[in-house]
This record gives sequence, C-alpha cells and structure tokens, in this order.
Amino acid sequence: MADDDSTDAGGAIESRLTEQEYLRPPTEFVGQANATDSAIYDRFDEEWPDAFEEFAELLDWEERWDRVLDDSNPPFFEWFPGGTLNASYNAVDRHLPERKDQTAILWEGEHGKTERIAYQDLYRRVNEMAAVFREVGVLEDDIVTMHLPMVPALPVSMLAAARIGAPHSEVFGGFSAQAFADRIDDAGSDVAVTIDGYYRRGEFLNHKEKADKALEIADSPPDTVLLFTRGDDLHEDVSIGSDDPYVLVDDVLEDKRGAEVDPVSRDAEDTLFLMYTSGTTGQPKGAQHRTGGYLAHVTATSKYVLDIEPSDTYWCSADIGWITGHSYIVYGPLSLGTTTVMYEGAPDFPHKGRTWEIAEKYDVDIFHTSPTAVRMFMKWGEDIPRQYDFDFRHLTTVGEPIQPEAWLWYYEHIGGGDAVVVDTWWQTETGGHLITNLPALKDMKPGSAGYPVPGIEPAILDDEGNEIEPASGQAGNLVITKPWPGMLQTVYGNDDRYINEYWRAFSDTSSDDPKDWVYKAGDGAVHERDGYWRIVGRLDGVMNVAGHRLGTMELESAVSEVSGVAEAAVAGREDEERGTVPDIYVTLRDGADPSQEIRDRIVTSIVEEIGKFARPANVWFVDELPKTRSGKIMRRLLEDISNDEQLGNTRTLRDPSVPDNIRQMVHE
Ligand code: WT7
Repeated sequence: MADDDSTDAGGAIESRLTEQEYLRPPTEFVGQANATDSAIYDRFDEEWPDAFEEFAELLDWEERWDRVLDDSNPPFFEWFPGGTLNASYNAVDRHLPERKDQTAILWEGEHGKTERIAYQDLYRRVNEMAAVFREVGVLEDDIVTMHLPMVPALPVSMLAAARIGAPHSEVFGGFSAQAFADRIDDAGSDVAVTIDGYYRRGEFLNHKEKADKALEIADSPPDTVLLFTRGDDLHEDVSIGSDDPYVLVDDVLEDKRGAEVDPVSRDAEDTLFLMYTSGTTGQPKGAQHRTGGYLAHVTATSKYVLDIEPSDTYWCSADIGWITGHSYIVYGPLSLGTTTVMYEGAPDFPHKGRTWEIAEKYDVDIFHTSPTAVRMFMKWGEDIPRQYDFDFRHLTTVGEPIQPEAWLWYYEHIGGGDAVVVDTWWQTETGGHLITNLPALKDMKPGSAGYPVPGIEPAILDDEGNEIEPASGQAGNLVITKPWPGMLQTVYGNDDRYINEYWRAFSDTSSDDPKDWVYKAGDGAVHERDGYWRIVGRLDGVMNVAGHRLGTMELESAVSEVSGVAEAAVAGREDEERGTVPDIYVTLRDGADPSQEIRDRIVTSIVEEIGKFARPANVWFVDELPKTRSGKIMRRLLEDISNDEQLGNTRTLRDPSVPDNIRQMVHE
C-alpha cells in the first residue's frame, strides 16, 4: 500500500497514481479523526455480532437491550430486542443540556429566504408538530405519508412523527401525484402531509396540485391532508375548496404554541419509517426500517465514516426524500448533535457557483454529494469553485460508481488535496453504509468503494451461487452474508416479496440456520486483489439515473398504458453526466403509426406515473423487439445498441435480424 504523503494538490497527483493507485489520508485529517484505531476491524470480526453494541451505545436508550441480535427466524432478524428508545429524543432532546443554542439545521432556501434553527428551536417545532399530528388523530403505529420538498417542515414532520411513534413515509417531492397516491394506498395512511409549493430556479412550483390529484386517484384517500405553506400565508396561486380534506398546519399550530409532547417509548424493533424504492417489478416496494438498529447504524457511520463532530458544519446535498437524506441529513447527523445544512434550490441557480458560495457562507467542513454532481462541477470547470473561499476536511460521494478521473478532480479542485475523499456504497434497503473506508484507517483508492464497514461481511458469488474466491479480482454478484443493524425489516405488508427479492436467489430458504441466508444486493462487484471492493453496477433491471433509482419495469408499465403502444422495453444508456439515462424502445399496435404525438404521450405518461426526473432520453419506434424463441424480450441487446457496443450473444433470438435493424435506426 502507498506510503508517501500525498497531501499536496497539483497535476502530480495523477502521475503518481498510475504508479501506485493509492493516496494516504492527509496527516491533519488522521490526527483528528473519530476512528483512528484499526483494531476496530478485528474486534468486529472476533466479537460479531456483539461488537455492534458499540454502535448502539452512541444512542440514549430508556431500556437497554437484552441481546444484540436475534437470528432465530431468518431472514426476519431482530436487532437489540428488549431495548426501548425514541428517535426524536435522540436527534433532538438529548442535545439540549449541552447545545440548545447551537444550530441544528441551516436552511438555505431559494428566493433569499434562510433559517437558522437551533436545537432549542427544533425541539419546539418538533413538539408542536407532534401535537398537531395528535390533534388530527394520528396514533402510535399509524403511517403518515409525506410529500414534502427540501424545506424545514420535512425534517420537523419526520421527527414529530417519530416522537409519537408514527412511522413516516416520505415521498420524494419530485415524484408525481400517481406515485404519491400509490404510496398512500400501500401504507393505508389516513393522514398525509404536503405544502402549497416551493421554489426551483426562481419559479414557484405549485406542489399542492399533486396532492389534489392524488386525492382523486387514490383508492382510499386520506381523511386529512396537513398543508404547510412555504411563505407566511397560503400562496396566491393556491386555494383550498370547502369540501377538501386539507387542514392548514398553521391553523392547528395556533393552539399548540409551546406544546410539549413526551417522546413515546419505542421497542428497538418498532418501525421508524418506510422508504419506497424501485425493484424488479412495476410496483415500488416499501423498505421498512426499524428504530433501534437503523438509528444505531446511521449514527455510528455518521461518526466513523463521515467523521462528524458536534462542532462541525456538515452538508449533504442530497434530497431528504431519498434514503441518503433520511440517514445522512436527518437521523445520523442530528443524533450526533451537529449542524446540518439543507438547501432548497438547484446547484446552478442563480449561478454555477451556488454550491461553493453556500460552502463559503456557512464554512462547511464536510461535504457529501453524488458522482453525477461531481461530473457536472467538473464540466463547468475549476475556475468556478476557485472564486470561493471554502475549506473542506472531508468529501464524500454516494449513489453510483465514481470514475477515477472525477474522483481526482474532486480531490484536487474541491478538496484542495488536503481533504479525504470517501466513496460510500449502500442502498435504500441497507439503511446505512456497508462498503466504505473508515477514512483515517485505509488509504484512498480512486474508483473503489473501499473496505467493508466493520462487522459487514460481503462476498461475491457466481450466478450459480458459488462463492468466488475472495480477493481474486473477478466480478460477480455482490451479496452480504451476515445481517447488519441498519438492514430493512421487510417489504411493508409483503414478507414474501422481501424474501423473493433479496434472499431467495442465494439462500436455502427452507433452512432456519442464519448461515444459510444470504442477502442479494442486486449489484455486480469485484473484490480486488488488494482487498478493496469495486462496485460495477446493477444487474437486475434497476437503473441509476443521476442518482435517482428507477426500475425498468416501472418505466415499461407507464409506457404500456399509452394507447397505440403494443410493447415497450427500456434500456439504460451510459451518459457522461447523468450516469445512466433510459432509452425506450416501443412497438405500436396495428393502426397506430409512429408520430410525435405518441412520443409526447409516452413521455407524459412517464412524468405522470413516476415524475419528471424519469424522462427518457430517447423514444425509438421499432417494428419488432428482440425476443428469444420463448418470447422473452432481450433487453441486454437493446442496451448494447443504446451504448453502441458490439452485440452480445444473439443465438437464442427468434429473428436474428431484429437487433441489426434497430441498430441501423438508432445509429444512422
Ligand atoms: C444503488 C442503491 C444509498 C444511497 C443512494 C442510493 C448504487 C450506491 C454506490 C457507490 C457504486 C453505488 C448501487 C446500489 N450505489 N452507492 N458508492 N458506488 N454504486 O440508494 O437509490 O437505494 O440505490 O445505488 O447500484 O445498489 P438507492
């Protein structure tokens, strides 16, 4: 491993890397890091699973757990059974004695609006909102579905729900009315939460419209929709009808000023939240997360991986509507009592230096973003960040593999060569980081996710389920062979789907020996000869579009609904900026002809069923889709065509001329 001290920036880094591929974490970083004793790796190996107590001990529990792990009923593992705690207490109340005046949330809105929310203010707001939930009838274990953008009302509502033991299910603001309605129905929510609107690139977006429509199309619409306002009053473009189930949060709050609501005592295994995510079928699934294990996992990784200290200003540029925001904007950072930044707007509005302007303004210490964002910053050029005075100690990426070129640019031009750069691999289902370096303990290796988090046991299997020799450098299916505290409990309301999607492929599902149960991540990966893990990408029809997770089946079902469409297949095309973008291939019914109009209807259907972020890059009308003799669509060949690569195996095709015809159309 590398042993030189590569803390200086400059073009020398690149040439040095080709020699040894590793960079040491800067000495200054190592000197102050939260995890500096490499014995932690051995301890978790030798004392598994009991060593996870170290994670749980970072929290305040009312009752200590009886045992660390109950694995008697795999794959329904229980973490810290017997323990009781409250997540909102851990994220808010417990910090008051020491830091009630310290800023908990720095909110940078568009339109010049900002808020600095101290822990004491957060406590007040969370309590008042908890009282509002109670007032409209939310009981313990009722699921509250939220559809909120990046405004303080979002973390406040999440923590308020957690306070009264009501699991929250936040739907990313960019999702459509249909997606909101589907999630309300699946969770059976009687109470939903939304807002009149928010700002994006200087424009007010009417967000309530989506709730209006969701109320029309949901099978069982909620009785009450709590409506926040982005400004002091309801926006002039937005109104409430007399029969509508909307209740203005401000109206209820009038009577709740200064209300205090005791945090309810939750069992470690009680559900904290649902996060719907795309899978291999058309219907998103509700990844159900527990209170104790989840909170322990995200708090510990925030401390040891993100290296967060209470005195830091930490900024993760993700949206709270995705798991990254839940774990690493809200629960992890706040449980550690730090200051977390939330930004409402776009990185290029009103100018492309906005990100660095905010970093300078708040003196951000730790910055967390996606490879997509890094590639974009890189395209805009280093002259932009150069104009701002910021100084990061720690830089993180998540969501997609990061190319060494982008990694180096980030290291050099954003980190100035003296910040650590940490890639973190995990998933909605894993709750928190699984593969990523403890940054003071491992050298950085651009393009690699690093080593597993202590206590995490990944392996690579071939398609038959045989283990590929560790550290052999061969690609295969990434699996996790032992349970971990942040893992999902199940797919909400559908234990079979939980087993089928994550376990069946590589487990002996008739066994009750936990060793026979292996979690399938759905990613391809390589365990390299030096022990580092490199993530290759999804193997299972799940796409990663600019850091947003999308299922091919979800897209295909939205397209199939368009009249005139006979069949649709989606292929991921690699895109320099956005990682992957969807290309859609459709055949039309007799009587329907390719037209701009059908193309528009296809795009509209996708926007309505899923959201704008899922817009396809191309819609291709083809005479026939490539199919096997048994009639299965071969998406892999479409992917080869989209990416202008040599066609893979075509021997099983019913009509071998089909892919060539499509290729001609796409590439000529
Ligand atoms: C999928 C999970 C977990 C937060 C954001 C995404 C991909 C995630 C990395 C990484 C390569 C990554 C995987 C994974 N992914 N992190 N560091 N390197 N790929 O959560 O929406 O549940 O997506 O994102 O393909 O399976 P998600």
